[in-house]
Amino acid sequence: MTQPAPPAPPAPRQPSPSRRALGLVREEVARAVVGQEPAVTALLIGLLCRGHVLLEGVPGTAKTLLVRAFAAACALDSKRVQFTPDLMPGDITGSLVYDSRSAEFVFREGPVFTNLLLADEINRTPPKTQAALLEAMQERQVTVEGEPRRLAEPFLVAATQNPVEYEGTYPLPEAQLDRFLMKVQVELPERQAELEVLRRHAEGFDPSDLDAAGLRPVAGAEDIARARAEVRSVQVHPAVLGYAVDVCRATRASPSLRAGVSPRGATALLAAARAWAWLAGRDSVYPDDVKALAFPVLRHRISLRPEAELDGLTPDACVESVLATVAVPR
Ligand SMILES: Nc1ncnc2c1ncn2[C@@H]1O[C@H](COP(=O)(O)OP(=O)(O)OP(=O)(O)O)[C@@H](O)[C@H]1O
Ligand SMILES: [Mg+2]
Repeated sequence: MTQPAPPAPPAPRQPSPSRRALGLVREEVARAVVGQEPAVTALLIGLLCRGHVLLEGVPGTAKTLLVRAFAAACALDSKRVQFTPDLMPGDITGSLVYDSRSAEFVFREGPVFTNLLLADEINRTPPKTQAALLEAMQERQVTVEGEPRRLAEPFLVAATQNPVEYEGTYPLPEAQLDRFLMKVQVELPERQAELEVLRRHAEGFDPSDLDAAGLRPVAGAEDIARARAEVRSVQVHPAVLGYAVDVCRATRASPSLRAGVSPRGATALLAAARAWAWLAGRDSVYPDDVKALAFPVLRHRISLRPEAELDGLTPDACVESVLATVAVPR
């Protein structure tokens, strides 16, 4: 009698084609941008979770270049809007214009009709125009003259803010900040990175010509759609779910905070942690994923009490101390 064959060893896990493609995006962006990996990761997670990203950084730290390079690597259409004090809601959404040839009003699409919108210095425009953008971000459609019009898919907003200059700005209300999946700081480069930027420029790198820098699309709409489906199948153990909820609930009890994280923030934390786990090649979420994402997902959703601010406390320090108090599931 022949012995039954032993069970075959599990096949080695291959990275899925969509994960490989999105992994390559980082390398493509790096052809143009030196460093700034957290911002690239935030855009990837935003793309995977259908979330929007707030980039905070001083001028000249490659925010514009990063968004353009990311769009090129993902074969996404991208537009840029400079938010100014005189910008009107219709300048964002589009408006009806009179066409004298057909003697009719026709809709002229505004810059929100794109895949990746760079909203530069979003806090320089008055609340009415900010609201038009934030509504489009949330609803994924705009309503002009009573008629709703769907935006493109994917639709991702990368909005920038300068953390230093407050003169003549309209800070985004807390309720609006909550609409951003993540807020990342675009840091000044380390000396070594800055030397590399200068070296590239000296060798003829032209930030306005990404083609010449050898930047190619490495991921497409199909990869993004498949990646999103794979992220949805990343497992979340009930204990990890409980951990994410407890972290968010703990912010509401923090004595340094005027307001903690909303349930929307809690769902954002879990969604981002799942996408992060998938990018890292795992099929389930670990408490460390929740911890890592707590900073970019929560920092703009908590508001400090004035006393705490005077004491020099920062949102990140609060997130840190909250993480230190919540028991991590083992
Ligand atoms: N990390 C970096 N890697 C590559 N180039 C960089 C980097 N930081 C700055 N640069 C260079 O600095 C210049 C300014 O970049 P960019 O216009 O993208 O900055 P920005 O952050 O959008 O500035 P602003 O806030 O004024 O809009 C570009 O020419 C870019 O090549
Ligand atoms: Mg810029």
